[in-house]
Amino acid sequence: MTSGGLTQRLVEQHFATRDGELVLGGVSVRELAERFGTPLYVYDATVMRAQLRRLREAIPARVEVFFSVKANPNIDVLRVFVGEGTGLEIASASEYLRARAAGCAPDRIVFAGPGKGQDELARVIADGIGEIHLESDEEIALAAALAETANRRVRVALRINPRAAGGAMQMGGQSTPFGFDEERLEEVAHLVLRQPHLDLVGLHLYGGTQMLRAEAVVAQWEATVELGRALARLLGRPLESLDFGGGLGIPYFVKDAELDLAAVRRGLAERLDDAIADPALAGARLLVEPGRFLVGPAGVYVTGVRSVKTSRGKTFVVTDGGMHHHLAASGNLGQVIKKDYPLVHGARALAPPAMTAVVTGPLCTPLDTVGRAVPLPETRVGDLVCILQSGAYGLSASPVGFLSHPMPAEILVGDGEPRVVRARGTFEAPIVGLPG
Ligand SMILES: Cc1ncc(COP(=O)(O)O)c(C=O)c1O
Repeated sequence: MTSGGLTQRLVEQHFATRDGELVLGGVSVRELAERFGTPLYVYDATVMRAQLRRLREAIPARVEVFFSVKANPNIDVLRVFVGEGTGLEIASASEYLRARAAGCAPDRIVFAGPGKGQDELARVIADGIGEIHLESDEEIALAAALAETANRRVRVALRINPRAAGGAMQMGGQSTPFGFDEERLEEVAHLVLRQPHLDLVGLHLYGGTQMLRAEAVVAQWEATVELGRALARLLGRPLESLDFGGGLGIPYFVKDAELDLAAVRRGLAERLDDAIADPALAGARLLVEPGRFLVGPAGVYVTGVRSVKTSRGKTFVVTDGGMHHHLAASGNLGQVIKKDYPLVHGARALAPPAMTAVVTGPLCTPLDTVGRAVPLPETRVGDLVCILQSGAYGLSASPVGFLSHPMPAEILVGDGEPRVVRARGTFEAPIVGLPG
């Protein structure tokens, strides 16, 4: 498949075109750019809701969806999911405050992360939290002490790093700072049971991100169920909670096959339905906590073209947006081999390519490249170049201070009138240290 194939499929699946223009949530990107300026993140609530629906159709009806806030912490994005009945998975006290600001009830929030701070734990314990997922001996002691000081009972789960390395599981068997090694399950369970203010309610497994194979998803869920049953046996009572993690992937690159949700549904039905009816799990709250799958396809980063130039035979399209707002698209967020995200021209979204360009941002570094060989229709200064699949791990996962450009605006569409959900930043002078 050419990248044209992937971009066309994504545009048709999630968005629309009108007279050739890319249309997001019923509004053309040209109108959005005219109204709100560029660069711009646009999130389409219709796509978020569609992704949530697709996920719910693929998983057992009993399993609740908790959106992982780290994928996109914009409060209005969180409101869309909370409004659809999801809980939220958080990884910091600030994400907790965002979750609450978005209207999420405390008991619908779970808190995971390998180095939770004393101030963070104190805050969520004081204000109320559904579950804290414990990941180290220090955290057990800290949570116990803080719960005692607050005179509260706190529901906790053990995050477990599974032993199984083989088979379809993407992760497992590795050394990691996340959670407790499975080998320590019994020992750690007893450590928690000794704490009078902690209620050990369940187990959590997060097996890695960007799973595109249905078999990997099913294997992760199976491993979670096995570990959950083992914990219930150790406790001598049923679990109240079991968290299957997130990690469902979306296609970014030409060769990425879309996650086959029908195969996920079949696999989970065949291999999990009986297991979750086991008395050890029958009364447990089952949850899944994806981020990328739910919000990734809903986001588009819209940039304006500032210059089109050639250098020794190569065409460069220089835009007003880049790695400082979208590190992942530049390939600098963990990619080993840099590949191009799906890019489309705002006015001629599905037009056949007339040129192959290197698309860069405005920063003085070759790292600020968001497309290395992008097939584009004829592209001129003032045109829009849009990066698809940008709703997850976009702005909040980027080095926004690098070169001191203003923050881009974030716009929500597909939820009534398009509206600003984060205002564009301004040029900033330093608060201290100005000469004279
Ligand atoms: C504990 C935990 N849960 C959920 C997620 C969300 O993962 P994804 O966006 O791949 O679904 C992450 C991502 O790092 C995570 O660490």
